[in-house]
Amino acid sequence: MKRIFSGMQPTNRLTLGNYLGALKNWVKMQDEHGTQCIYCVVDLHANTTGYNPGTLKNATREVAAAYIAAGVNPEKSIIFAQSSVPGHAQLGWMLSCITPLGWLNRMTQFKDKAGKDKEKASAGLYTYPTLMAADVLLYHATHVPVGDDQKQHVELMRDIAISFNQHIAGRDFFPVPDPVIMGEATRVMSLRDGTQKMSKSAESDMTRINLTDDADMISQKIKKAKTDAGLVPASEAECEGRPEARNLLTIYAALSDTSREAVMAEYGGQQFSAFKNALSDLTVATMAPITGRMRELMADPTEMDRILGASAVKANEIAEPILKNAMDIMGFWRA
Ligand code: AMP
Ligand code: TRP
Repeated sequence: MKRIFSGMQPTNRLTLGNYLGALKNWVKMQDEHGTQCIYCVVDLHANTTGYNPGTLKNATREVAAAYIAAGVNPEKSIIFAQSSVPGHAQLGWMLSCITPLGWLNRMTQFKDKAGKDKEKASAGLYTYPTLMAADVLLYHATHVPVGDDQKQHVELMRDIAISFNQHIAGRDFFPVPDPVIMGEATRVMSLRDGTQKMSKSAESDMTRINLTDDADMISQKIKKAKTDAGLVPASEAECEGRPEARNLLTIYAALSDTSREAVMAEYGGQQFSAFKNALSDLTVATMAPITGRMRELMADPTEMDRILGASAVKANEIAEPILKNAMDIMGFWRA
């Protein structure tokens, strides 16, 4: 059986990048036969770049609501908050003790997020990837659907699993999880700079489409998206050196479940204004039902908490025996 695990941080609003790069694939995987999906809101990770105790719980509910609104079925898949299963932090610590500093030093996300003054970054931001490894290994998950930016972290968790199996367990205790990076939009770029990832934490809101934006906002952002003086590219060769144009084509392809090639066959050679109108209509048509459903779910926090609570029990039932075995292998006392 395939066991899928993935997560998103409840920091700021989710973006179209989160949806196309990850969430849309999560829904597809949930509907594949013989898979069990565990989709976590990784609130422990959200603390690595600052604390917001007053708003964190609601942010967690909102991300869970986005999962459901996008099509994750809470009856079929497990949707829960990372902090509600203590095993994440416990296994995270255990794995951090078998992870060489040299491996963590290679992580590009730390370099990006820590900024210029690394001395001020939290220790949690630095050990973030070992907690992420624990998230997946705690469930003996086999597949990890993520956007392209998380590939390095999944590779690290594979190394950690192999190292634990070889040097500590002496057997294949943890399955070595595979990254699943699929679809046309594995890396959605900023609407203002085609060389930067679309990010929920970028300063300017005009760089991204949020899952909570209304139709007007979406069309304004797409209209103002950076392009160039040429026409819509008609081939991959014409996309060369035009990252903004390529990005808009990629978004269109991912939203309509086709390829960039097919979109270029339809719009190549046209003015950007016409293409942007079509893209804006398509984005609104896809996002409006999701946004609407999210709003309904968020209007009933008690129901959201019930879903998160019930799923946490199921998650814990899977995690608990695996954690106990891992503790046993490492020679710890277990209750
Ligand atoms: P995060 O927002 O960092 O918690 O990311 C949650 C998931 O969304 C991860 O699987 C990321 O790889 C994915 N993701 C975030 N931003 C993008 C983007 N701009 N393009 C594609 N995938 C993304
Ligand atoms: N690091 C991931 C991100 O920022 C979020 C995450 C945490 C995650 N734990 C995970 C993703 C486990 C997949 C599996 O996007």
